[in-house]
Amino acid sequence: MTGLLDQFDIDDPHLPKAIKDQALTSGDYPYKDKLGKHEYEEHMHRLQVHLVRLQAHMAKHGDRIVILFEGRDAAGKGGAIKAYVQNLNPRYNTVVALPKPNDRERTQWYFQRYVDWLPAAGEAALFDRSWYNRAGVERVMGFATPEEVALFLEEAPEFEKRIVKDGIHLFKFWLSIGREMQLKRFHDRRHDPLKTWKLSPMDIEALGKWHQYSDARNEMLRRTDTLHAPWTVIRANDKRRARLAVIQTVLERLDYDGKDVNDIGAIDPRIRMNASDFLE
Ligand code: ADP
Ligand code: AMP
Ligand code: MLT
Repeated sequence: MTGLLDQFDIDDPHLPKAIKDQALTSGDYPYKDKLGKHEYEEHMHRLQVHLVRLQAHMAKHGDRIVILFEGRDAAGKGGAIKAYVQNLNPRYNTVVALPKPNDRERTQWYFQRYVDWLPAAGEAALFDRSWYNRAGVERVMGFATPEEVALFLEEAPEFEKRIVKDGIHLFKFWLSIGREMQLKRFHDRRHDPLKTWKLSPMDIEALGKWHQYSDARNEMLRRTDTLHAPWTVIRANDKRRARLAVIQTVLERLDYDGKDVNDIGAIDPRIRMNASDFLE
């Protein structure tokens, strides 16, 4: 990987060919091509019909869902959430993307501000980043002390046990991208007027911290992958396959009126895996 950043100038409108060519296959991605647009749209439509059925079922039975999305900057968390909520009622499907904690929040119990956003009956809360910030960005960027991080890794499974025992269906997704793909997406964000808002100073700082983030991710997955709240890892270089696998995973695990496994389709084992298989 040495030298990769030397070739990369985010301000140069020209993205080096090596990065562009290797983006999709970076990080041992198992496909050389994106999923075809037609196949994607057709399958996504079927899945979204099922999400509507799930929503109706939840309204009727009072189910509650929490889906949290984690992953490096530009992993595609926001886009996956968008695909999920696209045809759902925003009143019952809340996207939660909290800013950094303010001075008052910094003095509270770490999980406190997230608790405010947990769902009521019939609701789904989709977290674009979550309490796992403490094990990722806050750890790597030094916004949390090593003691705070250690306490978090111990407490997160306990916190999640309380949520799950109360009956909330909890999903935890780690969207995994390769290094060239991250560079390519940062570059796109820098030069696309519709995407510049997504590129933050934090992203630029993260550029040189790829390995620190990898280490933090691995420890996080190892310590917080539990039977009551397992991680699902999604290989996300191809956004289309990633979004399908995320929604399939939710539909597969829940019961609702009108569920049909043929519509949901088989989940690609090269795209979706559990944490221990990913860490191998
Ligand atoms: P995003 O990738 O979510 O669009 P950024 O890359 O800017 O946003 O920031 C990544 C995460 O780091 C965000 O969840 C943000 O709230 C968090 N963050 C940024 N600065 C701080 C800070 N000083 N303390 C704690 N968290 C922070
Ligand atoms: P740094 O790169 O450490 O100088 O920090 C960059 C940004 O993170 C600045 O806006 C700092 O205010 C903020 N920051 C640094 N350390 C912390 C911390 N422990 N808690 C909260 N914010 C921090
Ligand atoms: C991403 O994962 O694409 C971004 O960093 C976060 C987002 O779009 O929500």
